Order: sequence, then C-alpha cells, then structure tokens
Amino acid sequence: MSHAPARIVVLVSGGGTNLQALLDGLGPAEMAPPLPPACVVLVISNRADAGALERARQVHVPTYVLRDPADAAELLRALEDGRADLVVLAGYLKRVPPAVVARFRYRMINIHPALLPAFGGPGMYGRRVHDAVLASGATTTGVTVHYVNEEYDRGPIIVQRAVPILANDTADTLAARVLAVEHQLLPMVVLELVKRGIPDEPVRLL
Ligand code: GRF
Repeated sequence: MSHAPARIVVLVSGGGTNLQALLDGLGPAEMAPPLPPACVVLVISNRADAGALERARQVHVPTYVLRDPADAAELLRALEDGRADLVVLAGYLKRVPPAVVARFRYRMINIHPALLPAFGGPGMYGRRVHDAVLASGATTTGVTVHYVNEEYDRGPIIVQRAVPILANDTADTLAARVLAVEHQLLPMVVLELVKRGIPDEPVRLL
C-alpha cells in the first residue's frame, strides 16, 4: 500500500512563482493512483490580492486569506483545517506568530534569496536583498532554505546554493537568476524532507 501524499500548505504574500514551482514539481492534488509523495493542499495569504492565490485557484487548490496574520489562533486553525504535514513560506512577508512556530517546529520552512546569515533579517526581502548584495561588492550570492524559528531568517539552514554575481548585474538581472535557482531548490527540499518522513529534528542537505 502506498502512503497518502504529504500535505503541503504554502504561505504567500506575492506573485507566487515559488508556489508555482511547487505546484508543478509536486504531485497534483487529486487522489487517483499513482499517488505522488507530496502535494499542495492549501495556500494561505495575508493579502486577498496576492497573485499567488490566482495560481492556486487555476489548479483548484483551496485558498484562505488571513483576517489578521498576527492572530496565532487563526493561522493555527487554518493549518490544522488543512491537516498540514509541512508548511512552506514562499514569499510570505508577515511574521509567523511564535505559537505557530512552536507548533510547527521543523515542519515549517522558508526560502530566502541570499546566502544566510548574510543579507537576512527584518526588512530584508525582495529587491532590497539584491540591492544590498550588489552594494556590498560580493561576488557570490545564492539561495537559502531554512527552518522557521522565532527570529527572522535565523532558523537552522537546510540547504544553500551559490549563484555567481556578474560584473554587469543589476538587482533585476540578479533577482531573476537567483529566482531560477529558488524554483529548482524548493520542490527538491520538500521532496527530500518528505522522503525522510519530515524528521522532527533539523535536516542539513548538501
Ligand atoms: C522569493 O525571492 C523568495 O525567496 C522570497 O520572496 C520571493 C518570493 O517570490 N522569500 P515569489 O512570490 O515566489 O515569486
């Protein structure tokens, strides 16, 4: 007998290209055999106008818009209603309330468009990250997937991938190259964690 697919719930605030990579890279959410190892069962956003929600609707994945992203009880209820095995923050810009972090310890991951701990922390998101990377004169940036803990961008790192910075890079060209790597890495990490049974202690991948 094959396992039921792991239930992945994705939190989003923006356009959702990483959500799209998960929708494309994991199995479809229907229950006909052969069952995929994991599928996206619910997409939650703090913004009703997040483009990511439309991507979910296109493939008939349920969506939920939070009334108050700081309300731990509301988010917990949504995650529990979705029977989330693993929660993925894919461009989610709100702080996850500590009670939710504690409840989903090592079952909640985030993707960040730089090599943490560099260029992370409060306010470091989107274009600002790439502007700061370029301003620093660094020659390499990258992507980090890490567990969510109580501090912004500080949870244990699962995996990192380097992306070279080219001499004529702008924040936009760099963001596009980094994003392409994000789209490869995020489904890979989800599938790898699922394959290992979503261990309740941190996993470090090479
Ligand atoms: C990505 O760069 C991700 O690393 C960061 O927010 C961005 C989201 O982009 N956390 P998208 O909404 O997935 O297109």
